[in-house]
Amino acid sequence: MKTLVIVSHPYPDRSNAIKSLENIVQGLPGVTVRNLESLYGDDMTQFDVAAEQAAYEGVERVIFMFPIHWFNLTPMLKAYLNAVWSYGWAFGPEGIALKNKEMLVITTAGATQFTYSKDGLINSTIDEVLTPMKSSALYVGMTYAEPIAFYEAMAPSVEKLNKFKQVIHERLAD
Ligand SMILES: Cc1cc2nc3c(=O)[nH]c(=O)nc-3n(C[C@H](O)[C@H](O)[C@H](O)COP(=O)(O)O)c2cc1C
Repeated sequence: MKTLVIVSHPYPDRSNAIKSLENIVQGLPGVTVRNLESLYGDDMTQFDVAAEQAAYEGVERVIFMFPIHWFNLTPMLKAYLNAVWSYGWAFGPEGIALKNKEMLVITTAGATQFTYSKDGLINSTIDEVLTPMKSSALYVGMTYAEPIAFYEAMAPSVEKLNKFKQVIHERLAD
């Protein structure tokens, strides 16, 4: 499946988990990776909107890969959505650029899976934390795949990274 991966991490030099996941998907067939901070640093005003929109052409699956920071998207990912998913392109009377594509969120979190449960500290699941992505996908006519979340992902061991790799390979096999 032709896949576009949008990666964002505000502190690339301190990233272990997302950097490893990015490396894993980079080698997969049919996958194009665009790392927002590699392309634009942390400048939220300089997106090459035409190039970013063109990256969706012919793509069937769009993956957003980012760490959970304060139970939210990264600043550059939010700014990217504001700039690139423009009215008239992403939605509106003729905005069909994203219609029927699949959105898959791959995220890492420092907390445990239990924390992300109804009985856990935040009384919320990862699905609920990711509601803005789900809502955005459905709003523009995309399908929303079950997110892949890696918990306790702070400074992951080699064994843990290998498990992450296995999960990614299984989910992206088609
Ligand atoms: C500023 C900041 C905020 C964070 N907020 C959360 C959070 O809200 N929930 C959580 O589970 N982990 C949180 N973490 C932990 C990160 O999600 C975790 O370290 C990261 O996903 C691991 O990936 P990385 O090695 O690529 O940074 C936070 C980390 C930082 C630096």
